[in-house]
Amino acid sequence: MKVNNKQVVLDMRPLDEILSSMPEISQGDLIPLLQQIQSRYGYLRRDVVCEMSRRTKIAVSRIYGVATFYEQFHLEPHGRHTIKCCRGTACHVKGAPEITEAITRVTGVSPGETTDDMKFTFETVACLGTCFLAPVIMIDDDYFGHLTVNKVEGIITNYE
Ligand code: FES
Repeated sequence: MKVNNKQVVLDMRPLDEILSSMPEISQGDLIPLLQQIQSRYGYLRRDVVCEMSRRTKIAVSRIYGVATFYEQFHLEPHGRHTIKCCRGTACHVKGAPEITEAITRVTGVSPGETTDDMKFTFETVACLGTCFLAPVIMIDDDYFGHLTVNKVEGIITNYE
């Protein structure tokens, strides 16, 4: 990665620490390993993944196979807070499209995007598993159910 024509040197110390805490790494350790890397770097940086592959002998294709299968992993920089808006059937019929528009209006980003200040990443998901709360969103680990468009701004501003 280049910023202002200067080569950015990747800090490998977090990766060193993670790998040294797991002396014998097998394919079965891949998920906890990726969780730790994401926790330390904020997301699964390509250069870190490649270095991890080189050191663990786990193929890059295998790593990306796992990383793209699970929603918990991010391949792009992620905001400090994650807003998940359910677009499942129960939520859809109770106003999820209007809730989605309201979130975009408040944050300035569409689903799949992160705000420029890295405060919020906005995602839509197939079902949050709490259909009885429809329409429902999550911000980080918090659920907000029986939502109305008018409540969206107040809820989001609590996380700024
Ligand atoms: S459809 Fe929205 S929580 Fe299940």
